[in-house]
Amino acid sequence: MKDVLEELEERRANARTGGGQRRIDTQHKRGKLTARERIDLLLDENSFEEFDMFVEHRCVEFGMEATKFPGDGVVTGWGTINGRVVFIFAKDFTVFGGSLSEMHAKKIIKVQDMALRNRAPIIGLFDAGGARIQEGVAALGGYGEVFLRNVLASGVIPQISVIMGPCAGGDVYSPAMTDFIFMVKDTSYMFVTGPDVVKTVTNEEVTAEELGGAIVHTTKSSIADKAYENDVEALLQIRRLMDFLPSNNESGTPELPTRDPSDRVEPSLDTLIPDNPNQPYDIKELIEKVLDEGDFFEIQEGFAPNIVVGFGRIEGRTIGIVANQPMVLAGVLDSDASRKAARFVRFCDCFEIPIITFVDVPGFLPGTDQEYGGLIKHGAKLLFAYSECTVPKVTVITRKAYGGAYDVMSSKHIRGDVNYAWPTAEIAVMGSKGAVEILYRAELDDRKKIEKRIKDYEERFANPFIAAERGFIDEVIIPRNTRLRIIRALNMLRGKQAENPWKKHDNIPL
Ligand code: HXC
Repeated sequence: MKDVLEELEERRANARTGGGQRRIDTQHKRGKLTARERIDLLLDENSFEEFDMFVEHRCVEFGMEATKFPGDGVVTGWGTINGRVVFIFAKDFTVFGGSLSEMHAKKIIKVQDMALRNRAPIIGLFDAGGARIQEGVAALGGYGEVFLRNVLASGVIPQISVIMGPCAGGDVYSPAMTDFIFMVKDTSYMFVTGPDVVKTVTNEEVTAEELGGAIVHTTKSSIADKAYENDVEALLQIRRLMDFLPSNNESGTPELPTRDPSDRVEPSLDTLIPDNPNQPYDIKELIEKVLDEGDFFEIQEGFAPNIVVGFGRIEGRTIGIVANQPMVLAGVLDSDASRKAARFVRFCDCFEIPIITFVDVPGFLPGTDQEYGGLIKHGAKLLFAYSECTVPKVTVITRKAYGGAYDVMSSKHIRGDVNYAWPTAEIAVMGSKGAVEILYRAELDDRKKIEKRIKDYEERFANPFIAAERGFIDEVIIPRNTRLRIIRALNMLRGKQAENPWKKHDNIPL
């Protein structure tokens, strides 16, 4: 018996060294942790249960039968994050560059299937060179099976991808179909085809960082949701994120104890809105003052910052925040902001996370750039997402809610459950100046007259009361009481039941 146990330990120790000490040292020199070190940091201490440690590839091409490493370039299994079960796979770059073989794919598929069957989130840590070149079509088949499972699990369990090294070719499409992608600055990059292929096909000279680094994907392409300074920060932040997320679409959101009082009033909010309607203010101040302990996990802060989205907690329960940001482009809705918020709203709806919407929006951004870029279709995505979603929706209009953007931003008309306005709200078809210039075109040369017209228009329309008269606003609230009023609304909505007509699935304007 002793010999067998010793042999097992020896085999395990060998498997844990992956592609060997030399390659582990290279990994460390590049500022990257190994797959197992990453898993240890991500999961609760000693909670990792590894599967398939001794799986090896079956390739006999290119002399591959002579080079085998137990585990075959990916470490898989499950563990817990703050006590809740998550499934995990981590590419091991020290073994064939983490490339995907038939058997490597089978390991990933096994944990994907288990995650779905057991209704627990799955996290993928990527650091790999794409398809195992020696295996050819067997690797392609493996990718296809992984992709299929990403789609089947979508909306049932949260799927998270963290890019911690190269992620190229076949490796990019699995993360692209998960709920969130996080990257590590300077050491990670993602692209379908690398700089060499780009040079051959388009003659463009571009580095890996310029083509698909963390900055590019968090600010330009919007492929990634956030970038972190290093592996350790990324993994600790994923632990924090997981505390906000439910285990599946039926489990309900996790509830954490909070010491933040439900009746906390914030007098400073009474003066948040500047006297000058064109002066910006930071909507994040409102967000942080409303949430428990001001704890806000922002998503995609580097992309379309004219809209802010992210997770927080109210009375210990997770909520999603969507808020126009007056500090950037006056909080206008453009194509990027609409797409960003639409995806976030749909995530919240999939996983039964209530949505709080803070509105201060002067409308949709005009211009050929936006219209040629499909503003109509992208704006429709947000309208569609809010309209189809059935989770509790509480809306607070702080200042401007103009035109179509008023309708889009979780208005009463598209099933906002509780719609509040601050006394500073201006709910109108358009801003006073624009309205007067259209209505009184003939008087445009007479500055005094026009100024008077603008003042009259403001007095009549730039307030929340006309909307309140029609019941489009349920109540005009005092800003300092915003947290309290939202808490009451959410408590009332806990029993909410709302359904959409039966359909196979909808046809959101993609
Ligand atoms: C087999 C691979 C590999 C791969 C890397 N390695 N990529 N082995 N298949 N795809 C091996 C290397 O041979 C090397 O082995 C080790 O991993 C580390 O690689 P290096 O090149 O030394 O590392 P580095 O300089 O850091 O470069 C990393 C890299 C580069 C940028 C990822 O290796 C690379 O460009 N790899 C090929 C990427 C690629 O074209 N993949 C196929 C994409 S096609 P040793 O033994 O020296 O340690 C694809 C189609 C699928 O994925 C589509 C499905 C839809």
